[in-house]
Amino acid sequence: MQWWRDAVVYQVYVRSFTDSDGDGIGDLTGVRARLGYLELLGVDALWLTPFYTSPMADHGYDVADPRAVDPVFGDLEAFDALVTDAHAHGLKVTIDLVGNHTSADHEWFRAARDSAPGSPERARYHFRPGRDDGPPNNWQSVFGGPAWTAMPDGDWYLHLFSPEQPDLNWTNPEVWADLEKTVRFWLDRGVDGFRIDVAHGMSKPDGLPDAVPGEPDPRFDHEGVHDVHRMLRALVDHTAGRMVAGQLCVPDERFARYLRPDELHVGLTHRLLDVPFSAEAVRAAIEDAFAAVAGTRSPPSWTLSNHDVPRPVTRYGGGPVGLARARAMALVLLGLPGTVYLYNGEELGLPDVDLPAEVRQDPTGHRDGCRVPIPWEGGPPGFGFTTGEPWLPIPDEWADRLVADQLEDTTSTLSVYRRALELRSSHPGFTGDEVEWFGAPEGCFAFRRAGSTLVCALNASAEPVPLPPGDVLLTSSPLHGGLLPPDAAAWLA
Ligand code: NOJ
Repeated sequence: MQWWRDAVVYQVYVRSFTDSDGDGIGDLTGVRARLGYLELLGVDALWLTPFYTSPMADHGYDVADPRAVDPVFGDLEAFDALVTDAHAHGLKVTIDLVGNHTSADHEWFRAARDSAPGSPERARYHFRPGRDDGPPNNWQSVFGGPAWTAMPDGDWYLHLFSPEQPDLNWTNPEVWADLEKTVRFWLDRGVDGFRIDVAHGMSKPDGLPDAVPGEPDPRFDHEGVHDVHRMLRALVDHTAGRMVAGQLCVPDERFARYLRPDELHVGLTHRLLDVPFSAEAVRAAIEDAFAAVAGTRSPPSWTLSNHDVPRPVTRYGGGPVGLARARAMALVLLGLPGTVYLYNGEELGLPDVDLPAEVRQDPTGHRDGCRVPIPWEGGPPGFGFTTGEPWLPIPDEWADRLVADQLEDTTSTLSVYRRALELRSSHPGFTGDEVEWFGAPEGCFAFRRAGSTLVCALNASAEPVPLPPGDVLLTSSPLHGGLLPPDAAAWLA
């Protein structure tokens, strides 16, 4: 039962979804209270972002105890209740697994800090003496600046993200054993799968050589990481119906290596996150995604947004045009075969929020705008997200994007998503693993699901265009005199 092959997985950024206890931060009991909404929306599975014990330097991606729930998000009882209820609502539950690094507050790192250079405590991380009064090599952190922080005793430690996220040493057997323990712990609690954070990370090349311009990035995509995926896959495959998806930032030609039969079930890509609203560019990205999984047993995967990038409405130009384009792209994505990942709030057409510097909390300074809590109902400050003060302010204008109102309005973005998800799971046209492209006016494209009559047409040009033949099942914006307007998509059969 490979449920993920054509599943729609809904990413819950737990901190911003629903707060059940009035502290202004979303929590697991809050997610549980919204399962009815998620069932109504029509998604198949959830991906919960990290809810583990954490000092929150990177809002949970700095894990201090991977087998415990941070009190801000609840406790294990709340987690178990969420899983039980999600299953009763017909929803699978997948969770984040952070294996590349821990928090600097993890007991291992605290022990390493308090131990001497060369000690076994330090051997769980990458500690090295400096070079010429500087860091041990020239690696940069993904968040900016050197990937090394100095200790008072002359050692430096490696962190490919923030200094509060020291990288684990994957040549150390204790590191393997601990991740295995974590995976078993959550499988035993009934989760249906994992999303591996930085799945192209973890293993590092021997000797940690300098990065050389024009050569492959030594920080990532090192051969040894495939053994980690084999270990994870074997654990997950122990029980039928469980899956492992990995966040992969690797060149296309390296992608399929992660999808060998004993590695990841699904590779998640950034492909469509970087592509402008252009028929040519979107089509090329889609074709590349199919090519990247060709010859593997994995479906392609599709993502328009997540908690790390500006929301599509904003990326595509903002305002009504950005919204129309984001809705059109939703039909493109949901019309494709494969696994679709939606990010909470995408179904409401939320834009990014330009937050003042003093309220931003993200270590990169750039990602708070897509993490503003969900406006469920009512008005400021809590909008049904919290009875307290939301951890990031919800803009007053979001009074016109409320879930409660969009549920009632048949023309809302939420209604387009609901109808699309309903058709995707019930209409016989959504079959086959491939698409066929056919002729379309300049600035447009149209594809058919191979072996079926279902057609998806996108108009990214400036003029209304005639629709391909067929009965219209759904459009992202109303048709104009039978024509597909600019910035719109349609499904026909
Ligand atoms: C990728 C996650 O999506 C991002 O939010 C996080 O900051 C980094 N990995 C580090 O864990």
